[in-house]
Amino acid sequence: MKAVILAGGSGTRLYPTTQVVNKHLLPIYNKPMIYYPLSIAMLLKIREVLFVVNPEDVVSFKKLFGDGSHLGMKIDYIIQQKPRGLAEGLILAEEFIKNDTVLYLLGDNIFFGHDLIKILEQAKKEVEKNGGAYVFGYYVSDPERFGVVEFDETGKVLSIEEKPKKPKSNYAVVGMYFYDSEAVEIAKSVKPSHRGELEITSVNQRYLEKGKLKVKLLGRGFAWFDAGTHDSFLEAGEFVATIEKKTGLMIGCIEEIAYRNGWIDREELLKLAEPLSKTPYGKYLIRIAEEQEHAL
Ligand code: TTP
Repeated sequence: MKAVILAGGSGTRLYPTTQVVNKHLLPIYNKPMIYYPLSIAMLLKIREVLFVVNPEDVVSFKKLFGDGSHLGMKIDYIIQQKPRGLAEGLILAEEFIKNDTVLYLLGDNIFFGHDLIKILEQAKKEVEKNGGAYVFGYYVSDPERFGVVEFDETGKVLSIEEKPKKPKSNYAVVGMYFYDSEAVEIAKSVKPSHRGELEITSVNQRYLEKGKLKVKLLGRGFAWFDAGTHDSFLEAGEFVATIEKKTGLMIGCIEEIAYRNGWIDREELLKLAEPLSKTPYGKYLIRIAEEQEHAL
């Protein structure tokens, strides 16, 4: 499986800041927002990642991640000329996805929870083995802002609607989708919505019609942030700070994950920590390298 991370868009809900700075490069507490979705892919041992970026931001992204080799990964970029909707990234990623399965992530979504990775590993396995699409629902109080999924009493999915005026449930579809390679052709066949965007919900609807959509609910043990508004941005930062201070462990620390995955060695980790050594982030990396050494 490969991963595609959407990091384009216009970020109008975070104006005025995002009039000049890409949203995904803003810090959620102590690291860029984009580290969080990238870390999800890494925790699932996905080494090949494609970022979909705006033309004016590609230089910054390349500066941040390069070709990914410092993390033992292969990172690439594709430019989205205009924010034509979430499904367009699948079309742009056609060459990258080829016949593989794909984890499709929104760059401004942040997840945390006990056994999250176990649950995602199941979804990954399911799509790798049987194809189709696998998405997640999360209870929200303002479903009209999201893609909303409706179930019958047996848990069978009845419908998915994008930003419905009268939502049929309180379950929003979160920005983390597992697809087989057919998603590209499906995205190509999608017509723009009334707001002129290629909606990812239309892709999911197509899978539902084919009987190939699985939806799993993420319960109260999980936190999900769409960090695209001023309030959710702040909330996400506060949440990360609280968890990190309580546990002494970082969320979304890509260098740590690369190291624990065995993609980089201790020397390489320490090298990555060096320019950051005055910050708690850099000190944390050094601590991780030393702890492992003591454990050996
Ligand atoms: P949104 O939050 O729906 O859109 P946006 O980022 O443009 O923000 P706003 O609504 O405030 O104007 O996008 C979800 C994620 O997908 C976000 O990380 C940006 C990304 N995205 C793209 O990469 N390309 C697109 O065409 C769109 C619409 C979004």
